[in-house]
Amino acid sequence: MSQKGLEGVVAAQTSISDIDVENSRLLYAGYDVTDLVHHATFEEVFYLLHHRELPASPQLEQLTSQLTVERDLHEFTRQLMVTLASTTSPMSMLRTLVSSASAYDADGWVVSTDHAANYRKAIRLVARLPQMIAGHERLRGGKWPVEPNRKLGHAANLLYVLMGEVPSDEDARVMDQCLVMHADHTMNASTFAARVTAGTLSDIHSAMTSAIATLKGPLHGGANEQVFEMILKIGSVEAVPEDIKGRLARKEKIMGFGHRVYKREDPRATILRELARDLGTRKGDMKWFEISEKIFEVVNSEKGLFPNVDFYAAAVYHYLGIPKRLFTPIFAASRIAGWTAHVIEQLQNNRLIRPDSEYIGPAPRNYVKLGDR
Ligand code: ACO
Repeated sequence: MSQKGLEGVVAAQTSISDIDVENSRLLYAGYDVTDLVHHATFEEVFYLLHHRELPASPQLEQLTSQLTVERDLHEFTRQLMVTLASTTSPMSMLRTLVSSASAYDADGWVVSTDHAANYRKAIRLVARLPQMIAGHERLRGGKWPVEPNRKLGHAANLLYVLMGEVPSDEDARVMDQCLVMHADHTMNASTFAARVTAGTLSDIHSAMTSAIATLKGPLHGGANEQVFEMILKIGSVEAVPEDIKGRLARKEKIMGFGHRVYKREDPRATILRELARDLGTRKGDMKWFEISEKIFEVVNSEKGLFPNVDFYAAAVYHYLGIPKRLFTPIFAASRIAGWTAHVIEQLQNNRLIRPDSEYIGPAPRNYVKLGDR
């Protein structure tokens, strides 16, 4: 019997993250993500996902310095960006740039099972993704990419290279919190794709390319962009009930709702709702938060569905000034912390991932010559 969508199938053992379904809790190596969002930085979480322990000061200083030093993009990437920005979507560009980054990585030709080299590659990729993502937006807008700012932490630099100005401490902290909460999520589709690729002993850049390609789809990470498109189209709190009921009557899925694992509210959605409310208040513009809240109210009462991580993320990113087409790439900029940790974990105890299929085609039959068909 096939298990459609592999629901309930355990594809790997992991010590990186876990979901406590009963209590709607997400844990990174035993730490509650809600706790981490309130207290930790993305740099600490990257370390935690890779080492399963929070870093002490010297370890954090070393990692922060590595993540800062490795921000500069290679000339090869810069040239590719100019062509790709004018011809592809941000996610397609990111997928191609990450794939091509293996060409000049200092450990590019090292065997795929060298964990120390994979960790160095992970740091380089994490450090460079913000510049790759921001480059698309700036080049599309006729502006030259901004050089990374070494005085800023990872989250603040991301906003800096995107906007071209140093963000407020409050906005940088919200960005950091978003990066923390998106960094890993057990065997989600893109992480599974990364582990499948790594399981063939392919290299980490190939695994990241698979992961980005998988995250791109609207049933996974691509949902956050679709959520904001829906919010924009609806346009007002008053228009929400009719619009949402119409979508449900047409059997359309409401993006940002439902989850394979959570049966109640995704804990990350709970945090993001508060962030959206705070940002709306701080920026003096509650419209996007209020439309989101009304959508939640109607979807929940009509279908009993709860929001997932992508729902309130849309309003939060918009309040931070991030353009809609970059919502999914920003997700990738965080999730790459988890993907790379999973690839290394897979390779430390590898077995080829190769499920079965249930054949439902025609019974065995003989070849029929072309003229007899
Ligand atoms: N809107 C309307 N109905 C929904 C939604 C939704 N967002 N989500 C699930 N349902 C309904 C389905 O139509 C189905 O109903 P049926 O049994 O009457 O046919 C039932 O709930 C089960 O849905 P499935 O799609 O089978 O659930 P699955 O576990 O395969 O999918 C998924 C989970 C993909 C997240 C789904 O809820 C969905 O498509 N949501 C919208 C897209 C989205 O927000 N994706 C982001 C997820 S979080 C992330 O990946 C980062």
